[in-house]
Amino acid sequence: MIIMIAAAAENNALGKNNELVWHLPNDFKRFKSLTTGHYIIMGRKTFESFPKPLPDRVHVVITRQENYKPEGCIVVDSIEKAIAVCPENEDNYIIGGGEIYNLALPFTDIIELTKVHHTFEADTFFPKLNKNEWVLVESEENFKDEKHLYDYTYETYIRK
Ligand SMILES: NC(=O)c1ccc[n+]([C@@H]2O[C@H](COP(=O)([O-])OP(=O)(O)OC[C@H]3O[C@@H](n4cnc5c(N)ncnc54)[C@H](OP(=O)(O)O)[C@@H]3O)[C@@H](O)[C@H]2O)c1
Repeated sequence: MIIMIAAAAENNALGKNNELVWHLPNDFKRFKSLTTGHYIIMGRKTFESFPKPLPDRVHVVITRQENYKPEGCIVVDSIEKAIAVCPENEDNYIIGGGEIYNLALPFTDIIELTKVHHTFEADTFFPKLNKNEWVLVESEENFKDEKHLYDYTYETYIRK
C-alpha cells in the first residue's frame, strides 16, 4: 500500500524556502504516529529540510545525484525504485515534497491530507487532485486554538 501524507493550504501551498510555513503540533503528532515504524519516501530537498533523520523510520531518498549517500538512508534515482525497495504488503508513506508528490501520485492508493484553512505565500505546491479519481472517505475538522493558528481538517482520500 502506498499512502501519501501531506499538509496543504487552501491554495495547495506546501512550503517556502525549503521549510514549512505553519506550525501545527497536532498534525506533527499525527504524522509521527502514522509513519513511525514504516518506510518513508521523500525527495532530497525534503530530506535536507529535517534537522536530523526522523527516528524509527526507514528513509528512502530520491535524488539524481550519483554520489549522494546520507548515512542510514536508502538512496534511489526514481520513484519506481523507491517503491520497489519498500516492503510490498505494508503501509509505505510518500512524505513529499512537491516534486515527489507529483511523481508519486499515479502510484498512490490513499492520501492522508491535512487541509490547512488559510492561504500562504509559497514556492512549493501540492498537486491538484482530480475529483474523478479520488473519493473522500473521512474528514475530521480541527479548530484553531492557542497552539494552532489556523483551522485544519484531516482528509482521507482513496483511489476510486
Ligand atoms: N506540507 C507538507 O506536507 C510538506 C511535506 C514535505 C515537504 N514539504 C515542503 O516542500 C518543500 C520541498 O519540496 P520540493 O518540491 O522543493 O522538493 P522535494 O520534492 O522534497 O525534492 C526534490 C528533489 O528530488 C529529486 N528529484 C525530483 N524529481 C526526480 C526524478 N524524477 N528523479 C530523480 N530525482 C528526482 C531531486 O533531487 P536532486 O536535486 O538531489 O537531484 C530534486 O531536487 C519544502 O518547503 C518542504 O518544507 C512540505
